[in-house]
Amino acid sequence: MKPEIKVFPTPNDVARAFAQMILEKSQQTDRFNIALSGGSTPKLLFDILASDYKDKIEWNKIHFYWGDERCVPPGDPDSNYLMTKNHLFDHIDINEANIHRVFGEDNPDSEAKRYAQLLHEQIPASNELPQFDLIMLGLGEDGHTASIFPHQMELLDSDKVCEVAHHPVTGQQRISLTGKVINNAKEVAFLVTGEGKKEKVKSILEHAEGYQQFPAAHIQPRSGQLTWWMDEAASNPGENSESAS
Ligand code: 6PG
Repeated sequence: MKPEIKVFPTPNDVARAFAQMILEKSQQTDRFNIALSGGSTPKLLFDILASDYKDKIEWNKIHFYWGDERCVPPGDPDSNYLMTKNHLFDHIDINEANIHRVFGEDNPDSEAKRYAQLLHEQIPASNELPQFDLIMLGLGEDGHTASIFPHQMELLDSDKVCEVAHHPVTGQQRISLTGKVINNAKEVAFLVTGEGKKEKVKSILEHAEGYQQFPAAHIQPRSGQLTWWMDEAASNPGENSESAS
């Protein structure tokens, strides 16, 4: 199935549309299981959810997980959980029981096992794997997604639910969902903005020579929908997208 491409003029426009999508999807179910991406791109989305959507979304219908987390304590500036807490959780009425952070402070190998077990227990299964309602992904400038980096392509096909990854430059350990779990989701949504991502987006969406060296190019849900949510700076207007309002 070809990915759906949604392009908006600015990062703010993308974030608003993405927030509206989360509202609408959460209205269709009693429990919405979402895996969040980390890094900096989601901050604007979380700020909009925490303000304009603060009183629109029934937050306790949503259970928050992470597609990847850095192996650092929850108070560390690098923590994806802390970023989400600062930009979203501290501003909305949500039960702690709905927030399922990765214990970045713990031994990575044991935490990868614990988190995988938690997902098996809490997320309905399909194909004997946890099936998220939505997995949100970012795109690194090296083509990584979640914490599956080009030097660890084997994490795409791992039979585990979670693996210990490490950043190719800093060596920082991460806990990441594997490619099989990501591709098992009902829906996968890349949220990508900024000029710096444009070349990788173009290469991946146009299947340019060598595109398969990028982990993000291997994200193709088995049966679910794949959508790229981008601003114009990250997309290649007119080449691989239909502009959305
Ligand atoms: C992380 C992410 C990672 C991120 C990309 C893009 O923990 O860093 O989950 O996959 O989405 O690196 O990061 P930016 O949004 O900061 O460009």
